[in-house]
Amino acid sequence: MFNSNHEQELSKRRTFAIISHPDAGKTTITEKMLLFGKVIHTSGIVKGRGNKKYAKSDWMDIEKKRGISVTTSVMQFIYKNVLINLLDTPGHQDFSEDTYRILTAVDCCLVVIDAAKGIEEQTKKLIDVTRMHNTPIITFINKLDRDSQEPINILDEIEKKIQLNCTPVTWPISCGKNFKGIYHIHKKLIYLYKKKTFENKCLLNSQVFYSLSDVLLDNDIGIELANHLREELDLIINVYPEFDKKNFLKGVLTPVFFGSALGNFGIDHLLTSLITWGPSPLSRKSHTRKVYPQEKKFTGFVFKIQANMDLKHRDRIAFVRIVSGQYTKGMRLRHVRIKKNIIVSDAFSFLAGDRLSIDKAYPGDVIGFHNHGTIKIGDTFTEGEDIKFIGIPSFAPEIYRRIFLKNPLKQKQLIKGLTQLSEEGAIQVFRPINNNNLILGAIGILQFDVVIERLKIEYHIDAICEQVNIILARWIRSKNPCSIYSFKKNNSAYLAYDTSNSLIYLAPTIANLNIVMSEYSDIIFDKTREQVDNILKR
Ligand code: G4P
Repeated sequence: MFNSNHEQELSKRRTFAIISHPDAGKTTITEKMLLFGKVIHTSGIVKGRGNKKYAKSDWMDIEKKRGISVTTSVMQFIYKNVLINLLDTPGHQDFSEDTYRILTAVDCCLVVIDAAKGIEEQTKKLIDVTRMHNTPIITFINKLDRDSQEPINILDEIEKKIQLNCTPVTWPISCGKNFKGIYHIHKKLIYLYKKKTFENKCLLNSQVFYSLSDVLLDNDIGIELANHLREELDLIINVYPEFDKKNFLKGVLTPVFFGSALGNFGIDHLLTSLITWGPSPLSRKSHTRKVYPQEKKFTGFVFKIQANMDLKHRDRIAFVRIVSGQYTKGMRLRHVRIKKNIIVSDAFSFLAGDRLSIDKAYPGDVIGFHNHGTIKIGDTFTEGEDIKFIGIPSFAPEIYRRIFLKNPLKQKQLIKGLTQLSEEGAIQVFRPINNNNLILGAIGILQFDVVIERLKIEYHIDAICEQVNIILARWIRSKNPCSIYSFKKNNSAYLAYDTSNSLIYLAPTIANLNIVMSEYSDIIFDKTREQVDNILKR
């Protein structure tokens, strides 16, 4: 185990992701956090749509054209002496597997919910992924300055739809045009929302009253609303459980905050809770043992590969989450999968599009390694130990296309391009066992456009995607090799291999999948697949 300096570095780090349905306000909140972290000094730099100021995370042309965030970016900033690693996720509904996988690299998640819309589809999907690791969740209910649902109904929805117990930390005073502010249940303070005084550069957009019983409150928000608030809070405080850090850290209880990201109202409370309750870097499981951040030797895993961050260099960057030890410039690391030692002389940290060369980094940090085609998602780096981190899976795609070439002579390049793109996690590729088709699988439809564009620009291949009769896929395994053999024989029309030669069932309908699942009870149909490398097969 390490010295007290290392312990200090750990205790002052928080690594989290913000997840939400598009338009709930994730970008606006990110921007306000960066303002608090003094990384930016005016609003409107991170946020932006279409041809307006475009997002700091918009690296790819396709993103700029459509004004959306296709890629994931990492931002590091300091708030009240705590170093925050904020991992941003693609914000459009055409999000990708990256969005899912980034959730495996964080220790905590901030869920943003639009107060008018409640829990939306994409939020639910992402929260389901956080459940794989029981990641603690902090909830922010946004846009209270607009007409909203009753706050109690939103909390009910959270409890029902995502089976997460809620404990409100702040409570809104009305909404929309009548939005007056919040009551901070823990601090027992009222914060009034001062709409008219809001300016982009103003950090704190609130006025504090000392208590619920303060007569100034009656004057300011009206006696009727003040009394209603007092009654409502009586009920709320009795109905909802008190904040319990253990349950929060187990991922079964979420503290809930209300506010307006646009009005920069409530974000400071959120950030404070994140640094006080959010866990410092957590341990991770490897295939042989748990690895703790306090350990002396460096370990880390790759959860994302980003191509073309710098178009001039056409490079690929591997995003490595440090699990233990310390990165120091020039250190020798073992690339476990390929069993080679490498010297890392130029790792860097990120601020959206900007990269900064670094000398040191600690658990919880995300650092970038240059990747010359040897690094794959899920790879582990260590200072010698042959371990592989688990829990960075592939997720079954949700949409499928057949890809074919305009010029059939370029099949070899197509395979090469698709293999590389699938190693980066940009797309999944399947080879049906009965024919020579190539099937692509993605989580969001935009991934197909990105792949076609990249094949054109990077591999000089003109390819087209077309609809295919596949609705969902499941990886196949069984303890009994004979079962696999007979399953394969009887269902070959629906079976394919992925790029790691794992067998996958490509179902044309949900009914079809249900039927085969009931017919073959000793076959396991997996929604996710861990990368199984040769290290596990030694
Ligand atoms: P996202 O990253 O989750 O997709 O959402 P984003 O922050 O881009 O916000 C989506 C829209 O909602 C933006 O408006 C943004 O200004 C608005 N918004 C965010 N938070 C609040 C809030 O607290 N109150 C209100 N009233 N609006 C909020 P837009 O018109 O789509 O974009 P823009 O013209 O403002 O850039």
